[in-house]
Amino acid sequence: MLGLTTTQAPWIEDARKAGQIYISQPYELYSEENHQAWKLLYERMTPRWERYANPVFLDGLSKLGLTSERIPKLDEINRALAPLTGFRARAVSGYIPAFRFFESLRQREFPTTITIRPPDRLDYLPEPDIFHDVAGHVPMHTDRRFADTLVRFGQCAHRAAEAAEAIRDSQRKRARLESITRAMARFFWFTIEFGLIRTRAGLRAYGSGLLSSYGELAHALESTDVHRPNLQLDWVIHQSFEIDRYQPLLFVIDNFDQLYEAIEQLERMILDNRLGEVAPGKPEVDTEEVMQLVAGHN
Ligand SMILES: [Fe+2]
Repeated sequence: MLGLTTTQAPWIEDARKAGQIYISQPYELYSEENHQAWKLLYERMTPRWERYANPVFLDGLSKLGLTSERIPKLDEINRALAPLTGFRARAVSGYIPAFRFFESLRQREFPTTITIRPPDRLDYLPEPDIFHDVAGHVPMHTDRRFADTLVRFGQCAHRAAEAAEAIRDSQRKRARLESITRAMARFFWFTIEFGLIRTRAGLRAYGSGLLSSYGELAHALESTDVHRPNLQLDWVIHQSFEIDRYQPLLFVIDNFDQLYEAIEQLERMILDNRLGEVAPGKPEVDTEEVMQLVAGHN
């Protein structure tokens, strides 16, 4: 039985075909193999988290009561999150385009994949899965400052859409929104997904792409091949990246206040129209989807 295995779950495929983005977590559909994959992932990560994760994350794991025993229920996670930050993990049927994803953050919702990778592919999967989303991201959402930072980031996307409303020429509007979305996706990638932070104990990871990857977490902090400059907004927004390899470039912050301030600076850049033409390259942006959202939401 395939259960809710990534790219092999008929229940998810049906939801996608029916156009359902937001779904429930049909917990009874998880197979024993699915729970086993979670257990293996969680158990081998635990010592690496203790060694390489930032304290907010380690605190978050215990606040959420996550264990290796079974795949967590989103309802239980949300009950723990509600009094802490009001953030909510909301089940989705798959990939959410960047702009819509940012809009969710603004509403304190984190689009969360509920499928899990197959046990023979524990090391790398291009698609996000529940281990990445829940064990990698959600522990950080227990922290008020970090949660507010995500909301603030989501507000930037909203501001960009509002600012673009004034542009009559649809070609120009499209180009500008595409550029801003690319800049924001790069910022998200180099901070929320792959960020490093200085702590009293030394350099630690706070980026969820690192915190959910057994191999890359150690590589990010130990390898001499990785370049680790201080976070620089002007650099990040013009920096392309490849998703299917260990990252050769990781940006370091001193504390989470610095991240919040970087987002405020990002917003000023949006409003001053300084993100209207960032360097081309990855990631790809679905401009059509951005335009539809702007038309529908704002
Ligand atoms: Fe992620």
